[in-house]
Amino acid sequence: MLLKIINLKTTIMRNKNIGIIGSGTVGQTLGNGFIKNGYKVMIGTRDDAKLADWKKQAGENASIGSFKDAAAFGSILILAVKGQYANLALREAGTQNINGKTIIDTTNPIEDAPPTNGVIKFFTDLNESLLEKLQKEFPLANFVKSFNSVGNAFMVNPEFAGGKPTMFICGNNEDSKKVVNDILNLFGWDVADMGKAEAARAIEPLCMLWCIPGMTKNEWHHAFKLLK
Ligand SMILES: NC(=O)c1ccc[n+]([C@@H]2O[C@H](COP(=O)([O-])OP(=O)(O)OC[C@H]3O[C@@H](n4cnc5c(N)ncnc54)[C@H](OP(=O)(O)O)[C@@H]3O)[C@@H](O)[C@H]2O)c1
Repeated sequence: MLLKIINLKTTIMRNKNIGIIGSGTVGQTLGNGFIKNGYKVMIGTRDDAKLADWKKQAGENASIGSFKDAAAFGSILILAVKGQYANLALREAGTQNINGKTIIDTTNPIEDAPPTNGVIKFFTDLNESLLEKLQKEFPLANFVKSFNSVGNAFMVNPEFAGGKPTMFICGNNEDSKKVVNDILNLFGWDVADMGKAEAARAIEPLCMLWCIPGMTKNEWHHAFKLLK
């Protein structure tokens, strides 16, 4: 078992610098998860100052740059910005720095509007997800939806009495999905690959579902599991 974990780590860590486009709790949490597993991480932001504490606590394998710096640094990228600005942040990152790379897309298309009875509002509809919009604008980048259907507190090594939770993923590039599958396994997740980019139409609204018990009953300690 130990050997299997070591093999898994070495397979996915060959020269794998992680560039994170987004400095909020998701960017920082995933950054810490990667650093804990021996990766080097650069978080991209428009405001370095807000990451000073993170850098101090995360240590020598952590660095800070612009969205463009982080995208250039990473051989695997994480997109973790406010959904509305995902396209702008990627434009700032520059197509030359994202083309051909795996982009783990954690974003949700949440509208700036109050929830109704605990149901948050999206600016997308059920026939086109945010991931598809991004894939269309940046056709040479390999987006994989992941981590969007759980709160940041559970993204790395989630522990639930009900066992290992399932992360639903999708994307058009099979190699990129393999990379993300291995990372999710390393972070303690079972993975359910739902197929191509269109499947994000179903995966993104899982965020709405995940938030309802939190918004209505202040219950935030849960994750999804696919039973077969
Ligand atoms: N929080 C969670 O538990 C959770 C769970 C699952 C998925 N998600 C999704 O993950 C993503 C990140 O969430 P978060 O809570 O970490 O942070 P967030 O507050 O949603 O986003 C923060 C990031 O958005 C960037 N941003 C804000 N306005 C911008 C603009 N006008 N132009 C360019 N970039 C802008 C910020 O840039 P600067 O760095 O320059 O300030 C920062 O990097 C979101 O899409 C969210 O829906 C969140």
